[in-house]
Amino acid sequence: MKTNILFPSALCSLALISGVSAWGDLGHETIAYIAQNFVSSSTKSFCQGILSDTSTSYLANVATWADTFKYTSAGEYSQPFHFIDAQDNPPSSCGVNYDRDCGAGGCVVLAISNYTQRLGDGRLSQAHLDEALKYLVHFLGDIHQPLHDENLDYGGNDIDVTFAGTTTNLHHIWDTNMPEKYAGGYSLSDAQTWATSLTTSIKSGTYASQRESWLNGMDISDAITSSMLWATDANAYVCSTVMPNGVSAVEDTDLSGSYYEDALPVIELLFAQAGYRLAAWLNLIVTGSTGL
Ligand SMILES: *[C@@H]1O[C@H](CO)[C@@H](O)[C@H](O)[C@H]1NC(C)=O
Ligand SMILES: [Zn+2]
Repeated sequence: MKTNILFPSALCSLALISGVSAWGDLGHETIAYIAQNFVSSSTKSFCQGILSDTSTSYLANVATWADTFKYTSAGEYSQPFHFIDAQDNPPSSCGVNYDRDCGAGGCVVLAISNYTQRLGDGRLSQAHLDEALKYLVHFLGDIHQPLHDENLDYGGNDIDVTFAGTTTNLHHIWDTNMPEKYAGGYSLSDAQTWATSLTTSIKSGTYASQRESWLNGMDISDAITSSMLWATDANAYVCSTVMPNGVSAVEDTDLSGSYYEDALPVIELLFAQAGYRLAAWLNLIVTGSTGL
């Protein structure tokens, strides 16, 4: 069938061996800390119980597990779960279509639906609930990375760029180089500091007036439709911000200057949305309401 769809995971795994990953650790952990700041107390207890972790980093501690697990033989099946390969035509037209773009091996949208249903299924074992929660914390991050919602050039992995003199690729600077340039590091405490600042922006700053709209259409009984909304939001930035003037305008170019300056507000918005939506989503699964 759609054999081209099978390529990105193969290429992604090659790329990862040479150091490419999804939103890097910093991004996933920042998103997890933001979610921790918004979950209800019963959601917090539920998650801490499943994870057997009552520390102040209980979600951040597991946010990158899925990126390690996918390169083990036991986790190989999950490689396509980290993205959806939108076969759109940036920069002139962006868009995600579930039937067209979710490959035969699955995609991030289907994975979110699967693990949402599983986390809410009280009949599953502790080990399966643990797996479902760790996947959801990770995949709600991945789906907010524009190039995880894009097929072109293997989600930008095939577009060589430089960043502050280092040769890398477009996918990698969105995952890692740009967030790390802003945070000045990639430790758990760098993630926590960034999350604290984004949490303030959500509660009482730049994002306060829009945060409610981020929850539009959220329905755990129709997780495909809900997560397609998030994928569609993030994919739109491929046209507006990731490659507004096409591939040739970024290829073999150093993007650590004005390109980075334009991208940073979008990265911050996507982290804030991902963290806030993750909290609402977990609250819905555990308590039946977003609690926000
Ligand atoms: C749902 O999750 C289970 C457990 O990880 C996995 O075996 C299965 O392949 C997943 N199903 C889909 C459709 O992704
Ligand atoms: Zn991932």
